[in-house]
Amino acid sequence: MDFVRLGRTDQQVSVAGLGCGGHSRLGMASGASSEQASELIRRAIDLGINFLDTAMVYGTEEAVGLGIRGTDRSKLFLSTKSWVGKGGAETKPEKYTPAEFTANLDASLKRLGTDYVDLYHFHGVSHDQLGHVHEVLLPEVRRQQQAGKIRFVGMTEMFRFDTAHTMMQAALPQGEIDVVMIGFNLLNPSARKAVFPLTLQHDIGTLIMFAVRRGLNSVEHTIEAVAKMIDKGDLDPASINPADPLDFLRAAAGVKSQIEAAYRFCRYEPGAHVILTGTGSAAHLEENIESILAPPLPPELSAKLAAIFGDCSSASAD
Ligand SMILES: NC(=O)c1ccc[n+]([C@@H]2O[C@H](COP(=O)([O-])OP(=O)(O)OC[C@H]3O[C@@H](n4cnc5c(N)ncnc54)[C@H](OP(=O)(O)O)[C@@H]3O)[C@@H](O)[C@H]2O)c1
Repeated sequence: MDFVRLGRTDQQVSVAGLGCGGHSRLGMASGASSEQASELIRRAIDLGINFLDTAMVYGTEEAVGLGIRGTDRSKLFLSTKSWVGKGGAETKPEKYTPAEFTANLDASLKRLGTDYVDLYHFHGVSHDQLGHVHEVLLPEVRRQQQAGKIRFVGMTEMFRFDTAHTMMQAALPQGEIDVVMIGFNLLNPSARKAVFPLTLQHDIGTLIMFAVRRGLNSVEHTIEAVAKMIDKGDLDPASINPADPLDFLRAAAGVKSQIEAAYRFCRYEPGAHVILTGTGSAAHLEENIESILAPPLPPELSAKLAAIFGDCSSASAD
């Protein structure tokens, strides 16, 4: 495993992080038990991963707690989250009060079987929730930090809806957040212009989600994702083969698969620290770690991807 300094947290974390949410939720989305999911956590730790990302709403915190039981807690970097509003960002829901937000934290700590988290995120924040975050919830989070329950403060975006990072662009200059989680992938590299200059300027730790997601995990899904980009006028159809948009990538010398290329694409982006990989399969986990540790894509391939997708910002690849 390779380790990297996570921005101003000054902590060393594994460049590959295990995402315990996403469509797989450690396999629990397709019926795996907490015990089976916890085996994946132990396998990830054995493979050198020390960064584990979960959330109150994933339903995987118990499995993480089970998986880390008996390991040296101080060697792990645990990340979890709470929505800012009671139904997430999607329906402009009622917002959590400070007391409710802390009750969510306490419940997460209990499920994880630990008395502190390394990183506590405001989860899936929308632009119109930012005022509530800064004015109402952040002072409470600072109190919980003082109480030793939280080491660093994080924020994640709702990339499915905010594919051009409008919330992050407003939040980051305020300078309160230690670590962010952003969507970034080869179909939508818009964070390169919209987010990384800010994270680098403020020395903010940066976690990458959606490196593969659904839109890049099979050729069929990529065809669907690219068709939507063309429909939205985000991508020039003349620039690719719509019947197989990433054929050139898979055909390139030294590229094993489009999934492998997708993780390598993210790993070497300046400003990207941890590349999250979400899976329910130990074999996929091993493969993905190998991809994240593989060398950068050849420069001519990076240039071609930038020429085709460099100005795209509509796809989340969900
Ligand atoms: N707003 C937020 O805060 C937010 C939103 C989304 C995600 N996240 C975090 O980001 C993490 C990463 O996102 P993600 O889980 O979507 O991960 P991802 O790594 O981008 O995509 C994983 C998807 O690809 C499949 N896959 C992975 N490796 C594969 C392989 N080698 N071969 C074939 N299929 C493969 C997985 O299915 P299999 O199970 O079959 O491998 C899964 O469906 C999440 O787990 C979560 O922790 C946060």
